[in-house]
Amino acid sequence: MKYQFSKTDTYTRRAKKENYPARSIYKLQEIDQKYKIVKVMDRVLDLGCAPGSWLLYLSKEIGYNGKIVGVDINDLKIEIPQNAILIKEDVMKFETTEKFNAVVSDLSAHTTGIDFSDAEETLELCWRALEIAKKVLIKGGNFVCKIFEGEGTDEFFKEIEKSFEFSKRFKPKASRKQSREMYVVAMGFGC
Ligand SMILES: C[S@@+](CC[C@H](N)C(=O)[O-])C[C@H]1O[C@@H](n2cnc3c(N)ncnc32)[C@H](O)[C@@H]1O
Repeated sequence: MKYQFSKTDTYTRRAKKENYPARSIYKLQEIDQKYKIVKVMDRVLDLGCAPGSWLLYLSKEIGYNGKIVGVDINDLKIEIPQNAILIKEDVMKFETTEKFNAVVSDLSAHTTGIDFSDAEETLELCWRALEIAKKVLIKGGNFVCKIFEGEGTDEFFKEIEKSFEFSKRFKPKASRKQSREMYVVAMGFGC
């Protein structure tokens, strides 16, 4: 069963007012304020970056001397910031030799609701995000990944625990209570 959401909830209205294309900004903002995922001059890989709220937020946090690479199959709905580039590609095919301080993934198969097949497909995207993160993160790097709690997520979390010094599942206030959406926050890659 899909959830029906109001298009005009508090976070949606706030995002509109603050010129972000999606309310998801407040999820990453809360995670970053709590855990300090990125800092000035960082290089960040943003997987599933469209329509661009996280990209905009990260762009401000890392400043002019940082760099963000955003990857998505869809276009951004923002003007691309000076310190960012968009690679319009399926993450399943995405390859890079660049190194990053942080990898963030808000990838999801569908964005309006979550049923069993959406959750399964999204978990596949999570595993792909982790695979990419392990290849591109510097030692001590950070990883944030959206998951939908359910079958297979414990195994995913255990795999993350093996590679990072600290890891936690976190539900931001902007994440709808009735949704199984959670974020894995993992810090200290290879430490
Ligand atoms: C919830 S949205 C991300 C919102 C984004 N973090 C923001 O703040 O604007 C999920 C995104 O994942 C992307 N996506 C889903 N499957 C993908 C894939 N296989 N490769 C690349 N992007 C994908 C979708 O196109 C969508 O833009």
